[in-house]
Amino acid sequence: MSLLSVRDLVVTLSGLRILHGVSFEAAESGVTVLLGRNGAGKTTTLRAILGLAPATGSVELAGEPVLGTRTHALVRRGLGYVPEDRCVFAGLTVAENLRLAERGTPDYDLVFGLFPELRKRSAQRAGSLSGGQQQMLSLGRVLLNDNRLLLVDEPTKGLAPKVVTEVAEALERVAERVPVLLVEQNLAVVRRLGRAAVVLAAGRVAWRGDAKELLGDHDRTKSLLGVGSHS
Ligand SMILES: Nc1ncnc2c1ncn2[C@@H]1O[C@H](COP(=O)(O)OP(=O)(O)O)[C@@H](O)[C@H]1O
Ligand SMILES: [Mg+2]
Repeated sequence: MSLLSVRDLVVTLSGLRILHGVSFEAAESGVTVLLGRNGAGKTTTLRAILGLAPATGSVELAGEPVLGTRTHALVRRGLGYVPEDRCVFAGLTVAENLRLAERGTPDYDLVFGLFPELRKRSAQRAGSLSGGQQQMLSLGRVLLNDNRLLLVDEPTKGLAPKVVTEVAEALERVAERVPVLLVEQNLAVVRRLGRAAVVLAAGRVAWRGDAKELLGDHDRTKSLLGVGSHS
C-alpha cells in the first residue's frame, strides 16, 4: 500500500512549466528514492507536495488530500521536510537548534539514540559542525516530532565519501522508524537504501520500479541519470 500518492502534479514557475504531470507513490515503509539529473524537478516535486510551490493535480497522504493545505498544517499532519540546504542556525548551539524545532512532546530519546553525536555536541555552535554533523542535526530537528513521512532532499550532497557513508547509515536507521521519500544522486546510497525508485527527467516520470532492478541495468541507469551504476 502507498502512504503518499501523487497524481498529475503540474508546476509552473515564472511562466515556465517545470513539472508536466508527475504521478508516483511513496511506500508506507522504507525508503522510496526520487532520482533524476540536475534540474529534472526533484526539489520542485518535494516543494509542491509541501505547498511551497504552486501546483495542480492531487496529492494524498494516507488517503487525505494534501494540496491546498498550508505547509505548517502539513507539518503538523506529519510531513517532515529536510531541505537541500540543511538550514541549521549557524550561530546557535546544537541544543538551541533542536529546541527551536520542538512541537508538542519532543522525542529526544529517539534523536539522541539515532545520533549520539548530537548529545555530545549539544553546547557546540551549529556553524562549527562538519557537513555530515549538520545533516544529522537537520534530520534530528525533524525527528524530534511525530512524522508519518519524511521528505529528505539530497542529504549527502557535497559531503566527503566517509561522511556520505555515515549519513547513509543514519538514514537507514531513520527509515526503520519512519518512511522516507529520499532525493539522492549518490548511487551507492541509492543501492544501500532504496527499495522503490522513481526517476524524473525534464519534469516527467521517466521510470518507476525497483531500485535494485534499475541499478542492475547499467545502460538504463546511464541513459536516465547520466552516470553508470558501476561507477
Ligand atoms: N523559482 C523558479 N523559477 C523558475 N524556474 C525554476 C525555479 N525553481 C526551479 N526552477 C527550474 O525548475 C527546474 C527543476 O528544478 P529543481 O526541481 O530544483 O531540479 P532538481 O532538484 O531535480 O535538480 C530547473 O530547470 C530549475 O532551473
Ligand atoms: Mg534539487
